[in-house]
Amino acid sequence: MTDQHPDPDKTITGRKGWPLAQRVGHIEPFHVMALLARARELEAAGRSIIHMEIGEPDFATPEPIRVAGARAIEQGATFYTPALGLPALRQAIAAFYRTRYGVDVAAERIIITPGASGALLLAVAALVNPGDEVLLADPGYPANRHFVRLMDGVPVGIAVGPDSNYQLRSEHLQQYWGGRAKAALVATPSNPTGTLIDPDELRTMAQFAAARGGALIVDEIYHGLVYEGAAQTALGLRDDVFVINSFSKYFNMTGWRLGWLVVPERYVDAIDRIAQNVFLAASTPAQYAALAAFEPATLALLDARRDEFRARRDFLLPALRGLGFGVPQNPQGAFYIYANCAGLAPDSFVFARDLLEQAGVAITPGIDFGAHAAREHLRFAYTRPVEVLREGVARIARFLGKRA
Ligand SMILES: Cc1ncc(COP(=O)(O)O)c(C=O)c1O
Repeated sequence: MTDQHPDPDKTITGRKGWPLAQRVGHIEPFHVMALLARARELEAAGRSIIHMEIGEPDFATPEPIRVAGARAIEQGATFYTPALGLPALRQAIAAFYRTRYGVDVAAERIIITPGASGALLLAVAALVNPGDEVLLADPGYPANRHFVRLMDGVPVGIAVGPDSNYQLRSEHLQQYWGGRAKAALVATPSNPTGTLIDPDELRTMAQFAAARGGALIVDEIYHGLVYEGAAQTALGLRDDVFVINSFSKYFNMTGWRLGWLVVPERYVDAIDRIAQNVFLAASTPAQYAALAAFEPATLALLDARRDEFRARRDFLLPALRGLGFGVPQNPQGAFYIYANCAGLAPDSFVFARDLLEQAGVAITPGIDFGAHAAREHLRFAYTRPVEVLREGVARIARFLGKRA
C-alpha cells in the first residue's frame, strides 16, 4: 500500500479505500511538535536554539527514584502489578495526601495509571457515553478534548480570559451545562495559563455538577509547582470529584509514564475493569521507583526545584511584560506563561514560526490550546535555567527591535 495519509489534521474517513475511523478526524496533532522538530533541524544545522516550548521539567528524575527503579529491575520486579496498581504505592500516595494536604483519602480509591494521560482516559471512559458533553476551558490542555472525542463524546470548549483567571467558574457551568452535559474537566494550576481555581469555586462547581447527575474532573498534575499560596486538593472539598495527578511534573518523572486517578469509591470496580482491559497495569519498575518519591530527602530536593521554577517565573514574567506581552493575571503555578502578543504581532502562529527561524527561540503558539483568541497568544515554558531564559528574552527583544 503506497497511499499515504495526506494530512492527518483533516477528517479522512477511508475515502481512499483504507479504513480510518471518523473520530481520528477530530484528533489534532500537538502543533508544537512540528515546531520542536524544526528547532531540532536548525540545531542539527549548527544553530543555537533557546527552548521555551517544552512542557516538561529540565531536571532529571531525582537520584533516589532512579536508584529504586534500577534496583527493582535488578531484583526481577518485571511482572504485571494489579491493574489498580502496586498496593504499597497506593498507600504511599494516600499517606502523601495526609501529610501534604491533611486530607484522608482511602488507598482503595487511588488508581495507578500510565501518566495523567492514562488517568484522563480512564476517567472519561468511565463517565462519557456517545453524544455526552464535557465542558472544558479554552484555552486548555489540548488532549482533553481528544479524550472526549475518543469516547465519541462532545467537548464543549468555553472561552475563558483574565476576568475568570483563565479558568472555568460556576457561572460558566450554569450557562453551558445542557441536557447532554456529563462532566466538566478543569486543571488547576492550568496548562497553558498557570492559573488556579479558588477552592470555594471548585466546591461550588463540584456541587453544581453533582446536583445535575454529572461529575467534576480536576486535573492536579501541576500541584507541587505552586508559587503563590498553597494549592488545596479538590479531594479535601468533596468525595465525589475525580482527581487526576501524575509523577511527570513535580516529581520530574515524565519518561517513566506514571500517574494516578482518585475516584469516588463506587467507581473503583468499573475503573478496575477498564484498566485491566486497556492497560493491564502501569509500568512495574516505574511504580517501584515512585515509592522513593515520597522519601523526605527526595521531597526536599523536589521542593528546592520548585523554588527554582518560582525564581524563573519571577524573572520571566516582568521581562515579557517589559517587552510588551500582555499577561494580565500572574500565573500562580505550573511552568508556563500564557501571553497576549496582539500588540506586537498580528498572528501568534506566524510570530512563533518567525521567532524560531530568525531569532532561534522556540515557543508554543496559542492554537495548540484551543480556538479562543488563539492567534493572539503564545505559551512560554520556563523549563530552562534563568541564564538561558535571559538569553531568550534578549533574542526576543532584538527580534522586536527593542532593548531587553
Ligand atoms: C494539564 C495536563 N494534564 C495531563 C498531562 C499529561 O501528563 P502525563 O501523562 O505525562 O502525566 C499534561 C502534560 O503536559 C498536562 O499539561
